[in-house]
Amino acid sequence: MSVAITNIGSLVTNDPNLGGGILGELENASLVIEDGKVAWVGNSGSAPAADQVIDAGGMGVIPGFVDSHAHMVFAGDRSKEFEARMNGEKYSAGGIKSTVAKTRAASDAELEANFLSLQNEMIRSGITTFESKSGYGLSVHDEARSLAIAAKHTSETTFLGAHVVPEDYAGKADEYVSLVTGEMLDACAPHAKWIDVFCDVGAFDVDQSRAILQAGIAKGLQLRIHANQLAQGGGVQLAVELDCASADHCTHLSGKDVEALASSNTVATLLPGAEFSTRATYPDAKKLFAAGVTVALATDCNPGSSYTTSMSFCIAIAIRDMGFSPEQAIWSATLGGAKALRRTDVGALSVGMSADLSILSAPSFRHLGYRPGVNQISQVLKSGKTIYKHQDGN
Ligand code: NIG
Ligand code: FE
Repeated sequence: MSVAITNIGSLVTNDPNLGGGILGELENASLVIEDGKVAWVGNSGSAPAADQVIDAGGMGVIPGFVDSHAHMVFAGDRSKEFEARMNGEKYSAGGIKSTVAKTRAASDAELEANFLSLQNEMIRSGITTFESKSGYGLSVHDEARSLAIAAKHTSETTFLGAHVVPEDYAGKADEYVSLVTGEMLDACAPHAKWIDVFCDVGAFDVDQSRAILQAGIAKGLQLRIHANQLAQGGGVQLAVELDCASADHCTHLSGKDVEALASSNTVATLLPGAEFSTRATYPDAKKLFAAGVTVALATDCNPGSSYTTSMSFCIAIAIRDMGFSPEQAIWSATLGGAKALRRTDVGALSVGMSADLSILSAPSFRHLGYRPGVNQISQVLKSGKTIYKHQDGN
């Protein structure tokens, strides 16, 4: 069955061959979907006939957001920690441990219900592909069940047993690294596509991180890393050395880090929600763009440092405070995210791509940064099927 979306005021294709600028923007456009994929893109007037028509009413259409960094398997919240931070306390990696205690105490059903509620929020925010990490279990059993739950709902699952050293291994970091690279990895690898490590102050050092990522490679996992969130260090260099798909956070970068990223296949994933919620200094994306680094934007949804599922909120911060142009922010939240996950089937709306898209209740993508905090996602399609439609009163 074919579906035509007609009367699109502004269509972001992310293909500069199809339209203007880096977003390949087409005005007065139509798009035809067949078998869940984009089959035709062009001027509204010349669109071929289709079995079903969705009239976009002159509003904007953008590719579905690709959220390449989220932590969605956990229990409880840390609103008091947020309040303390807003009253002047500093964020530290240690807060993760309080979520670990709550996650271990939760049933599978509770963890899955929380996961699904966040997934629904993401869909309503226009996210059509998302990654989710483990990392709040930190025991063989709790990491494996966290990943099994995530794997029921996304193919982009990431083993993050190396989030912090849990309390039961306090003072025994090397023993914990052996557990992560041994028994825990064996139990988790069947449910994971990726392996990640928090390489930072108060978490894991570069040598431990290298050992953990190399153990993941040996098990067939692909690599990503939390790097340079809390301080400058060797995390970004390690990401480039090991060809990680993505180095995430990149809040504290040296000139050498920027150079290394620019000459690599590693995407720099920026997470505006984390700086916002920890009152940290925002990284300067202008430096990354000027050096030619590929940049992604993601929500980092987690109960500690960034409890948001709103990509539009992240886009607004990126534009206002991190030096992104509106075009760069939309690109980074769509095709940039796809590149951070090394996906070639999502993140753009050229012929052959998965028909994952949002119809906005605004005339173009520009309104996402321009109207911060306002949900302007009116209808979301994944593989050509409507998975969310805003109803008045909802
Ligand atoms: O990406 N940086 C490490 N992990 C999370 C925070 C986890 C937490 O505070 O619970 C992050 O920001
Ligand atoms: Fe994270």
